[in-house]
Amino acid sequence: MTQDELKALVGQAALQYVTPGEVVGVGTGSTVNKFIDALASMKDQIPGAVSSSVASTARLKAIGIPVLDAAEVSELSVYIDGADEIDSQGYMVKGGGAALTREKIVAAMSRRFVCIADESKMVPVLGAFPLPVEIIPMAAARLVRQFADLGGLARLRMKDGKPLVTDNGQHILDVTGLKISDPLAFENQVNQWPGVVTVGVFAHQKAAVCLLGTPGGVRTLNF
Ligand code: A5P
Repeated sequence: MTQDELKALVGQAALQYVTPGEVVGVGTGSTVNKFIDALASMKDQIPGAVSSSVASTARLKAIGIPVLDAAEVSELSVYIDGADEIDSQGYMVKGGGAALTREKIVAAMSRRFVCIADESKMVPVLGAFPLPVEIIPMAAARLVRQFADLGGLARLRMKDGKPLVTDNGQHILDVTGLKISDPLAFENQVNQWPGVVTVGVFAHQKAAVCLLGTPGGVRTLNF
């Protein structure tokens, strides 16, 4: 199976976690796009979705699913999203699509995070994928030095020759060279640095379930 087919497999499998009659939290990325495509088959059974990005909002609306403002919903039963890395405890690195801040907000609103991923995302220790960190632009140089003190190399994410601007009007640092062996402590530490909007380690908002796409089918991991 191709990686794309594995993504479609887990996107389809995630439908079992969508409760008819309830608003669903929807993440961002190529795996979630497969989930949104599958969700079209349930669009008459749900009142709508809370979305984590402009891109997912557009995709949801295109298939006729109403997108609600996060402020209109007090709690979600489930949030479905992909990951750049996930470990054996459900801790994740996210933000490859630059949507990490809104993803963390919607995840925090949700009772259960269901991660959908192909098996290439499963890692023993987080950190091989460059860690995305959304930052306030004026803090960039100082934050690059702070990551260097941890042994990381932080680079500003670029798009079309200019710093990428997120849906929130901020910038992204991608940090390589880190080995994140204690995700909770790392998230706590980096979140305190002035100028950090959101660090892409999802430890407080870890997955409760991972639907992992493998050539043998979907493996369900409960954390
Ligand atoms: C978006 O900002 C990310 O957190 C995505 O969930 C993550 O990058 C996974 O994306 P893919 O499903 O495209 O691999």
